Amino acid sequence: MRYVGAKDLKAGMILSSNLYDDNEQVLLRANTQLSDSFIARIQKLQFDGVYVYENGDVENAKSIVSDETRMKAINKLRKLDIDACMFLANSIVNEIQSSDSLIVEQVSLSSYDSYTYVHSVNVDVLSVIIGIGMGLKNSELELLSQGALMHDIGKCDVPVEILNKPAKLTKEEYEEMKNHPLYGLKRLRDRVDTGAEDVAAVVKNAVYSHHENWDGSGYPRGLQGEGIHKFARIIHVADVYDALTAKRAYKDAMNPADAIEYIMANSGTMFDIDIINTFLKYVAPYPLGCKVLMSNGLQGIVMENDEKNLSRPKVKLQNGAVIDMMKKLDVTVIRILD
Ligand SMILES: [Fe+2]
Repeated sequence: MRYVGAKDLKAGMILSSNLYDDNEQVLLRANTQLSDSFIARIQKLQFDGVYVYENGDVENAKSIVSDETRMKAINKLRKLDIDACMFLANSIVNEIQSSDSLIVEQVSLSSYDSYTYVHSVNVDVLSVIIGIGMGLKNSELELLSQGALMHDIGKCDVPVEILNKPAKLTKEEYEEMKNHPLYGLKRLRDRVDTGAEDVAAVVKNAVYSHHENWDGSGYPRGLQGEGIHKFARIIHVADVYDALTAKRAYKDAMNPADAIEYIMANSGTMFDIDIINTFLKYVAPYPLGCKVLMSNGLQGIVMENDEKNLSRPKVKLQNGAVIDMMKKLDVTVIRILD
């Protein structure tokens, strides 16, 4: 599936999940084909966007978290409904734990990074998967999930001209952008909602520290090593991975294999090595459906990944033959082809 902004919807697109209003009533059901009047209604109700099917979805890996939950989370984040975000973050943990496989097979779900909140949900899912891999308890996973889902909530206080600038930021603009962890902390700390449940201290800490680097070169405090809360260290990896693989107005998306290479290269400087080692067990460098060049000179499409060794997928050649790299050890993947 693909996330499409409300203003970019076209008649004929098909919803991949139910669409709910603020009172949890179904507005449109999954599999509804959008007409101009449905699109007008979605825009009038000020939805940021919706998930629609894309050609070839049937063959793609199923999503670890449903489009319905993703869309609810996106809308609650956009409305800065922190209570609802905490609830949804917990539901996301439950959905991930009941998933058959935790391997991240998808090429980025966001076609454009202007959707800050689509990115936030991706970061949440990946953070929880890493957390599970690191053996965190359920209560810890829920707090990690809350921090990950709301990690960029402070971006709502960064001027939109800076946030959505379709080019590289100036030094001054970048300095303002770097305030978003502090703005996020303030949003969670100074809640004015009457009777609102307090946000846990570790969640606030994770939001405030998600741009800290292992070697102390990050911001806002320049914390180092284990002085950075574990949740923030996990979110940092998931955040950078999803940002690299997302297309932005001023850069193309990096493919998963190259993004993983970048993350590995920064292990021990930007990132905690233990967390990277867990990350590598769950993120497929050659996701299902991607076209690859192999060391035997042949090209093919990845049709299955082996959970024990994600660098050795099964690849289907154009003539229908299949190369299983777990059996054919003299063949390796050289790179992903566009
Ligand atoms: Fe951030």
